[in-house]
Amino acid sequence: MKVKGLGYILVETTDLDKWNEYGQEVCGFMKHPELSNDSTLCLKIDEAPYRFSIQKGSADKYLLAGFELENQQALDDAKSQLQSSDVEFEDLTPEVCSERLIEAGITLSDPAGNTLELYINRNEDKEVFVSPQGISGFITKNLGFGHVVYATLNIEETHDFYKDVLGFGDSDITDLKMSPNPEDPPMRLYFMHCDNPRHHSVAMMQAPTPPSGLIHTMVEVENIDDVGKALDRALARDIHISSTLGRHENDGMLSFYMQTPAGFDLEFGYDGKQPDWEQHETTYSDRPSVWGHEFTPPG
Ligand SMILES: [Fe+2]
Repeated sequence: MKVKGLGYILVETTDLDKWNEYGQEVCGFMKHPELSNDSTLCLKIDEAPYRFSIQKGSADKYLLAGFELENQQALDDAKSQLQSSDVEFEDLTPEVCSERLIEAGITLSDPAGNTLELYINRNEDKEVFVSPQGISGFITKNLGFGHVVYATLNIEETHDFYKDVLGFGDSDITDLKMSPNPEDPPMRLYFMHCDNPRHHSVAMMQAPTPPSGLIHTMVEVENIDDVGKALDRALARDIHISSTLGRHENDGMLSFYMQTPAGFDLEFGYDGKQPDWEQHETTYSDRPSVWGHEFTPPG
C-alpha cells in the first residue's frame, strides 16, 4: 500500500470558542468561513479545505486521522491488502465523505486502537488561505500537513501494522533512556514515513495512551520568525508551553510544543528534513534533540 500523506485530523471539544481562539489567534490558522458552523470549526492552513475539523461534543480528545491515497486504483488495492491481512474496514458513508469533502474512503482501526481513514480525491477549495496572524505559509505541498504521534503499550504490533499493512517505512528508531537506573529498559519510539519526503508522518512511543488520545500533532512553517511569533502569541495568552524551543535529532525540526485545548500538544516547527527514501537508511537515535526541547508537564 502507498499512503500519500496525512490529510486531516478530527478533534472533539467541549469548548468550540476556545479552539476558535486558539486556532486563529495563537496558531494563525484560518477559520473556514463556509465550512464552519455552530457545531464544527474547520481550520485551514493551505489549499486543502481544512486540515483540522474540531467538532463539538462531550469530551476533549483526538478522534482520528485521515490519510490520502493516490486514486481509485490505490483505494481498491488498499482494500485488497486489508482483506488479505485480515484487517476489518468499512466504507465511509456518503454523509462522512461529504463532511470530509472527499470522493470516497474507508475507516479502520490500527492495533493501538486509533481510528484511521484512507481517502481519495479531496475537493479543491475556492477559499484562499490567509493566516489571521500573517504567517506566510505552512509547508504542506506534497508532504501532507504534518505528523501525528501516538502512545501505545502495543507498540510492536502497531509498528508492524504500519510497516507491513499500510506500507510505511522506518525513518528513525529511537531508544530513550528514561530512568537513571541502567538496568531499566529504554523507551522505544518508531518514526515512520509514507510516500512523500516528510521525515515522519506517524510516530509511536511505547507508553500508555493518554486521555486525550494523542501525544502531539505537528505543523511546519516556512521561516523561523513564524515559529518565534507563534511562541510569543502562546506566551501572551498563557497557553501551556509543553516544550521549549529545540532542534530534533532525527528530523532536524526546530520547534516548540504547546498544549492544545484538547490536552494533546501541537508541535510548531520549521526546517524539517526531507530525506530521499531511495538513499535513506533507518537511523538509530539515542536522544530526541540536538539542543533544547526541555519538556514541562502541565502544572
Ligand atoms: Fe513531532
